[in-house]
Amino acid sequence: MQNDVLIVTGAASGLGAAAARLLAEKGARIVAADIDKGNLEAVVESIRTNGGDAVSRVTDVSKAEEVKALVDFAVETFGTLDGIFNNAGVRDGTHFTEVTPESYHDHLAINQHGVYYGMHYAAKKMRELNVQGGRIVNTASIRSFFGAKKSFRYSAAKAAVENMTKSGADALAEDGIRVTAIAPAFIDTALLKHVPEERRKRLEKKHLRGKLLSAEEVAKVVVFLFSEDSVAINGSTVLADDGFLAIH
Ligand SMILES: NC(=O)c1ccc[n+]([C@@H]2O[C@H](COP(=O)([O-])OP(=O)(O)OC[C@H]3O[C@@H](n4cnc5c(N)ncnc54)[C@H](O)[C@@H]3O)[C@@H](O)[C@H]2O)c1
Repeated sequence: MQNDVLIVTGAASGLGAAAARLLAEKGARIVAADIDKGNLEAVVESIRTNGGDAVSRVTDVSKAEEVKALVDFAVETFGTLDGIFNNAGVRDGTHFTEVTPESYHDHLAINQHGVYYGMHYAAKKMRELNVQGGRIVNTASIRSFFGAKKSFRYSAAKAAVENMTKSGADALAEDGIRVTAIAPAFIDTALLKHVPEERRKRLEKKHLRGKLLSAEEVAKVVVFLFSEDSVAINGSTVLADDGFLAIH
């Protein structure tokens, strides 16, 4: 991982920020992307203060041209590209009956299409550069595997991410690019800010340790998926769920 150039989307907060920091600690050069400029710059600054190498690029992953520009920026900055963590995502717990066609499309544009754009442009660039050992890691969710009335758009998108990871691995194997995904259960991040305290307590009990995952715990699995140690894993979505699905 030393000197690998890795793009991390959704890097201003939560899992993306933790993964950017940990990957940088392992020696990767990080291109951190998010729509939240202020927090993004703070994350990059903290990586540099810690002796790591990172740059920021404000990017809306729902816009194909911005993701293409992000990939170009990574190569202009560091001269190559070794991988991308397609992690940016949103969730607001809207009930199916409240979902409108517009909000449906907006939600999928970030959570599903944003992942596709990252896979597409990063793979294209790594093929062009004839990169050896490229890696793509996507953020799926335990919700890739089940639905719920307040998770209609989110579960649909995350199921697609799980499936795109399989097809992507097959398509890119001949270029030596490995494609995997991580499926976390509930992580204690800003994404859960809309969850009422009472529901949060119930969610905690659904994990075998009786508490939510931390972003750092899940980021360690992401680091593993970017590392050579996980070379036997391809096309798979790896659960980081503290037993959530085992007992539900
Ligand atoms: N928190 C959980 O319980 C949980 C569980 C399973 C999966 N996930 C997934 O993990 C990923 C990271 O979420 P998190 O929990 O760290 O949440 P978070 O809200 O802390 O971080 C998400 C980041 O994505 C950014 N973002 C949102 N829309 C964007 C866009 N259009 N373009 C670029 N960046 C954008 C946000 O600004 C934010 O910095 C998401 O894909 C989420 O679906 C989270």
